[in-house]
Amino acid sequence: VTGTATAEANPNIALIKYWGKADAAYNLPVTGSLSLTLDTAPTRTTVTLDDTLAADELVLGGVVQAARPAERVRVFLDLVRALSGRTERARVDSVNLIPTGAGLASSASAFAALAAAASAAYGLGLDDRALSRLARRGSGSASRSVFGGIVRWYPGDDASSYAEPVPADLDLAMVVAIIDAGPKTISSTVAMNRTTATSPFYPAWAESTTAQLDEMLAALDRADFTAVGELAESNSLRMHATMAGAWPPVRYQTAASIALVDAAGELRAAGVEAYATMDAGPNVKFLCRPDDADRVAAHLATVDPGARFLSARAGRGVRLLGS
Ligand code: DP6
Repeated sequence: VTGTATAEANPNIALIKYWGKADAAYNLPVTGSLSLTLDTAPTRTTVTLDDTLAADELVLGGVVQAARPAERVRVFLDLVRALSGRTERARVDSVNLIPTGAGLASSASAFAALAAAASAAYGLGLDDRALSRLARRGSGSASRSVFGGIVRWYPGDDASSYAEPVPADLDLAMVVAIIDAGPKTISSTVAMNRTTATSPFYPAWAESTTAQLDEMLAALDRADFTAVGELAESNSLRMHATMAGAWPPVRYQTAASIALVDAAGELRAAGVEAYATMDAGPNVKFLCRPDDADRVAAHLATVDPGARFLSARAGRGVRLLGS
């Protein structure tokens, strides 16, 4: 039997960050985290079982991949095969529907789409919670892209560490400032492991993030946009401060990033609520109200005329396309 399935998933941006693993083999996080799934830049992935292949094959944007990225996918497919009791090899064909140059290509959308397509192709029949746990094994943040809107990911053990949607009565927008990436920086996996192992600030990060997650849930519950934004900006700054304390130090913020983070403060001083958050790269994302998104992007363009901007709202979780 040859199974095939196609799934699509969107990236998510954490407002309370995942930074540090309690268990690297299972991608169990030290703390909970919370994110917004975006309505743009999906990854679409088709998994086709094919026993005539000598090994699993990974094709990204039409280009067959060499050993390294393919290895992470093969390890993931081994897991799906073990769960399904099947042995067929597979071809994985994945495209980012907004080209990678947009700076939003993420392991979150990639592994959420792969988890959904592979589990369907191998006949696993998982519910959303089990799918979130499986996506987590590929990349921690992928557990959250299984769901749309605001999503919370629980720490815990392999059974209890999954994501689920958080009902929220706030209309959020995100303006992504894509700045010239320059040379490739260190991967999030390596950087977070180094941070937990060497940054003396790590215990304080874990404690503060746990507290900020509770405050964030309360702020969402009372639809307090200002508190949501302040917590998101603060949590991001604390994450980057914690990595600066690692050795060798980890720094994703460039001079251009910092100028853009400052611009969020300028916008607020001018009465436009925008809050900056950054992940494992130099791009800066701004949380704002949908009505303010154009003004936010216009001001940021004066600060960094070389940047490109993408506006997003809350988007859907992972979906299977006719398989
Ligand atoms: C800064 O999910 O990419 O974006 O589990 O090792 O694949 P792995 O890490 P990954 O880390 C994401 C880190 C972050 C914050 C976040 O998304 O919560």
